[in-house]
Amino acid sequence: MPLLATRSFPSISRNFSPARSLCARRWNSSNLGRPAKMALPSFSLQGKTCLVTGAARGLGLEFCRAFLQSGCTSLAVLDLKESEAQRAADELISEASSVYPEGTPKDLNIIGVGCDVASEESLKRAFGTVNSTFGRLDAAVASAGVVGTYSAMDYPTDRLHQLFDINVHGAFYTAREAARMMIPQGGGSIVLVASMSATIVNIPQPQTPYNASKAAVKHMASSLGVEWAKTGVRVNALSPGYMLTKLTKGVLDLDDELKQTWERLTPMGRVGDPDDLSGAIVYLCSDASKFMTGAELRVDGGYCVV
Ligand SMILES: NC(=O)c1ccc[n+]([C@@H]2O[C@H](COP(=O)([O-])OP(=O)(O)OC[C@H]3O[C@@H](n4cnc5c(N)ncnc54)[C@H](O)[C@@H]3O)[C@@H](O)[C@H]2O)c1
Repeated sequence: MPLLATRSFPSISRNFSPARSLCARRWNSSNLGRPAKMALPSFSLQGKTCLVTGAARGLGLEFCRAFLQSGCTSLAVLDLKESEAQRAADELISEASSVYPEGTPKDLNIIGVGCDVASEESLKRAFGTVNSTFGRLDAAVASAGVVGTYSAMDYPTDRLHQLFDINVHGAFYTAREAARMMIPQGGGSIVLVASMSATIVNIPQPQTPYNASKAAVKHMASSLGVEWAKTGVRVNALSPGYMLTKLTKGVLDLDDELKQTWERLTPMGRVGDPDDLSGAIVYLCSDASKFMTGAELRVDGGYCVV
C-alpha cells in the first residue's frame, strides 16, 4: 500500500474528545454474553442456518460470534482460504462451551468453507456445500471486502478491478446465491456490509474506489430488497463507521496520527469495537426486523450526521 494521507486536504475542524481509547477486545468467558432467559423472542436465531463471507476474522468473525450467542447452531464460515475458514469454525466451536456452560447443543454444526467471493463459480461451489450440509439457509451476510488507500491518480488499475470484483460483484453473487436457496423455502434475510463511506467521503485518506464500491453495495441492497420483496427474502445494508479490525489496522499502521483524527471526527470520540455491531447484525438477520427491507442501518458513532 502506498503512503497515506497526503496532507493537502482541508484541515479538519470537527472536534470531539475521545470518550475512551479503544482496546482490542478478546472474546473470552468473562465478556461473553450468554443466551438471556428474558429477551424478545423474535431476536432469537435458534433453528436458523446462517452464513457469513469473509468470516475468518474481523467483523465477519464477530458476526458469527453474535449468531452463536443468539442461539444459532448451524453456521457456515466462508473465507478465501479453506484453512483459515476451518480454523475460525474450530475457534467458534471451542468458544461455544462458554456460551452453553450447561453443555454444547448436540446439533451444533459450524463448517469452514474456502471461497473467493470475486468468483461466481467459487461461490456456487461454497453454497452447494452449505446446501448439502444444512439443506436450508435463513440468513446470509456478505462481509468479505477490501480497501485501498491510493490517491485516484496513482490507483493501480488491476487493484481497482480487484476491489470492485470483491466488494461489489462479490456482494451481488453472494446475495444471488443466497436468494436461490431462500426463495424456494419461502424467505430469508440477506445483509450486505456496506460502510459509512457509502454516504460520506472519508478524510484525510484517499479511497475513492472503496467509497464508490460501498455506495454501490448500499444501493444494491435497496434494489434487491425491492426486487425480492414479494418472495419473503429481505435485503438490507449494514454500514459501520470506523471499526478496529485488521482491515483498518493495515491503514493505521501507515500513519500514527490517523487513529486520533478518526476519533476526533467521530462524535462518540472513538473508533468502534467489532462487537458494537453485534446487536445490529442479529436484528437484521432475525425475525425482529421482519418488516425491514431495502434499508441501511448505520452504526458509526454519529459520524455521518455532523
Ligand atoms: N473495519 C472497518 O472499519 C469497516 C468499516 C466499514 C465497513 N467495513 C466493511 O466490513 C467488511 C469486513 O471488514 P473487516 O474490517 O472485517 O475486514 P478484515 O480485513 O479484517 O476481514 C475481511 C475478511 O474478508 C476476507 N476476504 C477478502 N477477500 C476475500 C475474497 N475475495 N473472498 C472471500 N473472502 C475474502 C479476508 O480474508 C478477511 O478474512 C468489509 O466489507 C469492509 O469494507 C469495515
